[in-house]
Amino acid sequence: MTWNRKDLIGLEELTRQEIETILDTAVTFKEVSSRQVKKVPPLRGKTVVNLFFEPSTRTKTSFELAAKRLSADVLSFEVATSSVSKGETIVDTAKNIEAMKVDCFIVRHSIAGVPEMISKNVSSAVINAGDGCHEHPTQALLDLFTVKENFGRIRGIKISIIGDVLHSRVARSNIWGFSKLGADVWVCGPPSIIPPEIEKMGTQVTYSIEEAIENADVVYLLRLQKERQRENFLSSLKEYSAFYGLDEEKYKKIKNDALIMHPGPMNRGIEIKSEIAEKNNACILEQVTNGIAVRMAVLYLTVGSRK
Ligand code: CP
Repeated sequence: MTWNRKDLIGLEELTRQEIETILDTAVTFKEVSSRQVKKVPPLRGKTVVNLFFEPSTRTKTSFELAAKRLSADVLSFEVATSSVSKGETIVDTAKNIEAMKVDCFIVRHSIAGVPEMISKNVSSAVINAGDGCHEHPTQALLDLFTVKENFGRIRGIKISIIGDVLHSRVARSNIWGFSKLGADVWVCGPPSIIPPEIEKMGTQVTYSIEEAIENADVVYLLRLQKERQRENFLSSLKEYSAFYGLDEEKYKKIKNDALIMHPGPMNRGIEIKSEIAEKNNACILEQVTNGIAVRMAVLYLTVGSRK
């Protein structure tokens, strides 16, 4: 296993082998979380800083637990009560924290490119925890891990990503990740929220949910991102839900062994009906569980293997 990157900014720049290295490393870490003492020593003496400029439940908690299970110290930087509110720049903020001898920044920001900008100004590792509509690499890695764990492979599976692709960093990272590993990737939604020329990323496009779910091995629903929709992209939520929301009627057309996935947080009753989220083949909480192993692997490779 070789790893030569300081940072993890996106899956676009990773090779297939690098993605597979992360997934294989995550397999070795998964078991740690089911031990009575959920701790291993590789990051003992290292300090990981959570720098979240946007709300998060899953990613922030998952990174914190992953770092602690690797024996790192974790600092959760509180943006609202920091000098950012007095006008200090993000780069100055990161440099000042780095001057206190930390080893890694986990960065989430509403603007695409902020984690990369920080990474160019600090020598610590920087991991993108979601930047604007750009990428959310560890979400896609945990999704890849979950699909591989269920099907034993990624190559050849049909994954249909349904919903607000235009505003979704999760969709972009998943398209890069699944297509690099040989999956048949489809995106589906109303034309107003499907980016033009998305086919160039290696995906097929359909505006028909029936076509998307036909023979799909994975039906991946995206959250409708009301906070990023500055224009009216949809005539009504009710109409969106009727055409593209996963309900019992559409569920009946899905293969019995297909996985239903969602990155969270869910808008129950919009992109997914509540009863569908509770089906046996909905693996939404399994995704969350796997997030710890995948983030342990990413921290181990970027922080633990550095000289
Ligand atoms: N999936 C995801 O990124 O969830 P959070 O916004 O809660 O971190």
